[in-house]
Amino acid sequence: MVATLPVRGLGRRSSPAGTSYGRCVPSSDDAAVYSVGLRLRDRLVVVVGGGQVAQRRVPALLAAGARVRIVSPWLRPVLEGLVATGDVEWVARPYRSGDLAGCWYALAATADAVTNAAVAREAEDQRVFCVRADDASGSTAWTPASGRHGGITVAVHAQRDPRRAATVRDGVVERLRTGDLAAPQHRGRSAGVVLVGGGPGDPELITLAGRRALAEADVVVVDRLAPTALLDELPGHVEVVDATKLPRGRATTQEEINRVLVAQARAGKRVVRLKGGDPYVFGRGFEELTACLEAGVACRVVPGVSSATAVPAVAGVPVTHRGVAHELVVVSGHLPPGHPASLVDWAALGRLRGTLVVLMGVDTLPAIAAELVAQGRAADCPVAVVQSGTTAGERRVLATLSTVGELVEREQVTAPATVVIGDVVAVAASAAFAAAADRTRLPV
Ligand SMILES: C[S@@+](CC[C@H](N)C(=O)[O-])C[C@H]1O[C@@H](n2cnc3c(N)ncnc32)[C@H](O)[C@@H]1O
Repeated sequence: MVATLPVRGLGRRSSPAGTSYGRCVPSSDDAAVYSVGLRLRDRLVVVVGGGQVAQRRVPALLAAGARVRIVSPWLRPVLEGLVATGDVEWVARPYRSGDLAGCWYALAATADAVTNAAVAREAEDQRVFCVRADDASGSTAWTPASGRHGGITVAVHAQRDPRRAATVRDGVVERLRTGDLAAPQHRGRSAGVVLVGGGPGDPELITLAGRRALAEADVVVVDRLAPTALLDELPGHVEVVDATKLPRGRATTQEEINRVLVAQARAGKRVVRLKGGDPYVFGRGFEELTACLEAGVACRVVPGVSSATAVPAVAGVPVTHRGVAHELVVVSGHLPPGHPASLVDWAALGRLRGTLVVLMGVDTLPAIAAELVAQGRAADCPVAVVQSGTTAGERRVLATLSTVGELVEREQVTAPATVVIGDVVAVAASAAFAAAADRTRLPV
């Protein structure tokens, strides 16, 4: 005889005569869920219906490598796009019996309960698991609230309460992201260097991949333009190496930074090189990657949100705007026009009608503005200068090419600052814009 297990939600199934078989059976549909991961690569999945449910489910099916066929007389445009690119097959008519032939998994996702019931019936006959979007009790499979982080998939069923399932899912995924719940196999990952773009300063603007790399680090090599507020979150055992390069001041050389990265990784540490913005936008990230690879140290890059676009955006300036700017050029201003080592074609930039974003150009701004005007850009072309953007110390100055040199000096603007030159600045400062929320308004 099989003993009855004291499992919550399970009860004894009785024989018609009331005799207990002593077998565990679910007392409710929900306890009966048996969770598995379907390996759908190259396997046919039929989705009946081309509306919202299909829009939500199809991308995840494609991400799992499934061959997706949608049966529906119409499709949402986003699904039509997937058909156009060949990612999805489309049978452009209403469902007919037999449409599930050869499939491994089916979704009944039309707005019509009768059709969904017919799909579910065919699936049952074909022994194909089927999710019925409109009626969980008529389904042989349920879609969990799922999320992924760092190679871990979290799938939650919560007695058919999707909000509760999503809340639990979000809680677990968030703990994975913050490193609170790092998986053992992650903790055991091999040494190496990750170049992480930390964004322009606001610690919220680092990417999820960047946060994960930080959560797994033994050593963090950081400079002053990185979002240093994130250092506060690091566990006590993490060593923080200061790679600050103060302009015209005490500096750590690039060679020294490269040496530290390689030495720490060779000592078996997981090293994060936390950088400001994006590592490859005037960040010398590729030099660090090359140094690691040449030394035989594994190295990868996590791109970041560059100050070139994010600092203006948070200050309220879109670097492109329809009908205003069809060009966006990001230029380093660390060398003034005419400097023999400069690689910038200032004459071409003077002819530019679109947006010019200058990084590392506070000291050289008077010379840059004068050169642009000399090369043909209008003297009244609007300019926005944003110092320490996205941080508590953010300052903004509005000017024109003819006034910016003087204004920057008078306002004592210092690095780091991002300069935006072009008509997008005028768009941002327009009356309509000024009516927007404070957070997005430039002082005019
Ligand atoms: C060496 S570059 C690095 C750029 C970085 N890799 C990126 O993608 O943002 C440094 C320059 O970026 C700009 N910058 C970085 N952080 C900034 C911030 N919070 N506010 C304004 N400009 C910033 C400044 O022009 C600064 O001189």
